[in-house]
Amino acid sequence: MTVFNWVSNCTPLYLIVGLLIAVFNVFPVALAGEDAKPLRRLPDAAIPINLYELLGPDAYARGVIWQPAQCYAPTSERMEGVTEERLGKLEAMMMQDLFGALSRAANVSVTALNRNSSFPGLLGLDQARLDRDMRYRKQALRRLAGRPDTWRWLRALSDVVLRYTVASRDPVARVGHMGCVNSSIADLIGGKLLPLPSVDCSNSSSLVDALGFFSDPNLRMEQVARRVLREPGWCSVRPMYEPYGQWLKKERIMGRPRPGDLRFHGLSNRHADRVVFLFDLLYEQEHAFKRQHWLGAVVQQNPFDMYAIMDIIHTTQPDLVVETGTANGGSALMWASMLELTRPGSGRVITIDVNAPERESWAGVNAKDPTKNPLWAKYVTFLKGSSLDPGVLSTVRSAASSAARVVVLLDSDHTEHHVEMEASAYCPLVSPGSYCIVQDTKLSRFSSVGGPLPGIRKFLAKHPEFSIDRDREPFYTQHVGGYLRKQQQQQQ
Ligand SMILES: *[C@@H]1O[C@H](CO)[C@@H](O)[C@H](O)[C@H]1NC(C)=O
Ligand SMILES: *[C@@H]1O[C@H](CO)[C@@H](O)[C@H](O)[C@H]1NC(C)=O
Ligand SMILES: *[C@@H]1O[C@H](CO)[C@@H](O)[C@H](O)[C@H]1NC(C)=O
Ligand SMILES: *[C@@H]1O[C@H](CO)[C@@H](O)[C@H](O)[C@H]1NC(C)=O
Repeated sequence: MTVFNWVSNCTPLYLIVGLLIAVFNVFPVALAGEDAKPLRRLPDAAIPINLYELLGPDAYARGVIWQPAQCYAPTSERMEGVTEERLGKLEAMMMQDLFGALSRAANVSVTALNRNSSFPGLLGLDQARLDRDMRYRKQALRRLAGRPDTWRWLRALSDVVLRYTVASRDPVARVGHMGCVNSSIADLIGGKLLPLPSVDCSNSSSLVDALGFFSDPNLRMEQVARRVLREPGWCSVRPMYEPYGQWLKKERIMGRPRPGDLRFHGLSNRHADRVVFLFDLLYEQEHAFKRQHWLGAVVQQNPFDMYAIMDIIHTTQPDLVVETGTANGGSALMWASMLELTRPGSGRVITIDVNAPERESWAGVNAKDPTKNPLWAKYVTFLKGSSLDPGVLSTVRSAASSAARVVVLLDSDHTEHHVEMEASAYCPLVSPGSYCIVQDTKLSRFSSVGGPLPGIRKFLAKHPEFSIDRDREPFYTQHVGGYLRKQQQQQQ
């Protein structure tokens, strides 16, 4: 039956539809171009999405989708003259404090705990399955998030972790800051340590409110201590995100854009922007980035942006690609592959991270180790350390000074201050007409703490030779306003 027949055979329905169109203008004025008059305003209820259902309780426990308030280097990196003996003592002390906190939060005796204990472990959860099975994870964490003792545990855990964390240390003045300075811990760390004046150390909530909380409820005690003290450091989230779904919907999805709040590019109305934003939340929440491979290796880049970056490599033909944030190494292998296609046998990728790529098991299942691919040896140099470490910087600067064309990708710590520092140190290395790509600027929209965008604004204020090139942004980009282009040299 054709539509026409169906309609003419059902006259009453046809009339009703016609009436609806005439009276309520049900069909929106579709296909409006950029210049056409704006679309009819849809009510906010047009997105009847329950973010709790969409994001799951994991989002509450982890502050959704990695949006750090602050990232902290492992304490060992900030110790004065670190020795294994002092580090071991610090670890033993921290472990005792973690046992005490877990014992109080979960109401079990300290003697029942060991280095392998974890909070969900006490509830009989399968750690390995939590990591690989998203359905299982959501169910398990939903149960966990509903229990007040989970939140007691996260706060107690954070209280311990923060007391062993050096929040920052000035490399020149050599003065460090901790939330609270305890003399026995400070002796082991060494050097000059000052407490943060805003923190009331007798009040654990005050400490957690000031520095954020440790967001992973399902790590073993030993992993927590290793992460905080030895490697790889950790990132805190704000307790204000406990009702994260509500906040996100009200402030960032339904709300009108605030000044500097960049929406997705090229969308003709905010409803379209919301759809893409929700897609992005889903992409992150499902850990889709762990299931993308290049030559067998996980690449945690958004596929749309990867494509845009590949085109930038093709058009600029760089001698040098600098990437901060190696993770498991998949993206460095991808940039190396583009060099193989565009500049066979010449050109280099320098990739920098605080951890060697083989440590990054959280990145998903590598079918192939990217560092074993022959292209890795041919093109890639891995530098271990902070991207702001003076030694690392001088190696990169010297490589850039002998390269005619340079592309920079900044994908390490995405907090505001770090992005500003990293952009100031690395973007000036790019050649005229080339790009410094500040990644994951979308985090600024997930989060009420700054994230990359204000970091970029501060950088641009001092660097008029750079501008945001929104034409480079693919339809669904994660680097909104992050493609920074250096102007071509003026003809003299
Ligand atoms: C803690 O455990 C003990 C014994 O297992 C029990 O008697 C007590 O009621 C529990 N306390 C809480 C607050 O659950
Ligand atoms: C911790 O777990 C490892 C392997 O899962 C095991 O070999 C070790 O004996 C456990 N340690 C304790 C103290 O239970
Ligand atoms: C410092 O913290 C450790 C571990 O919590 C504790 O054993 C010690 O008594 C504290 N020292 C002081 C001076 O408060
Ligand atoms: C502890 O700190 C929290 C957060 O800063 C504050 O709301 C609370 O009033 C403080 N409690 C006491 C007893 O000072």
